[in-house]
Amino acid sequence: MRSAIFALLLGLTATPALAADGAQLFNAQCKMCHQAATGPLAPTLADVAGAKIASKPGFNYSPALKAKSAQTWTDANLDAYLANPTGFAPGTRMMVKVAKPEDRQALIGYMKTLK
Ligand code: HEC
Repeated sequence: MRSAIFALLLGLTATPALAADGAQLFNAQCKMCHQAATGPLAPTLADVAGAKIASKPGFNYSPALKAKSAQTWTDANLDAYLANPTGFAPGTRMMVKVAKPEDRQALIGYMKTLK
């Protein structure tokens, strides 16, 4: 009995807690639209962290996102947009939601490395 419980505990602690990997998440969920350079599908996300919202040249942003262009992509704004794009900017053309807070944090960290 005791050894069974011990084995169970061992099994639980041996399961590695997988940290969210921003690069992996980005490649799987974002890169199909957000390429290194601005394209027809989406603006580039290089230097997006800290930049003015909807400010990449050569992309035709939605009126919804343009209406936010006086604001900056702070961590909090990025988090709110990724959690619920249409809640942050009703009418935005980006619909992709990232449900898990730790995934959003990892993606924001990764976006900061995009230059
Ligand atoms: C289906 C295509 C598509 C996918 C997938 C996608 N996006 Fe977008 N994204 C867009 C479009 C289109 C816009 C511009 C939206 C607008 O003009 O309302 C945008 C805008 C953005 C912006 C604001 C850019 C700026 O210059 O203000 C950020 C940040 C962003 N996306 C992050 C992400 C992240 C992170 C992911 C992955 C979790 C992702 N996007 C996945 C299409 C996409």
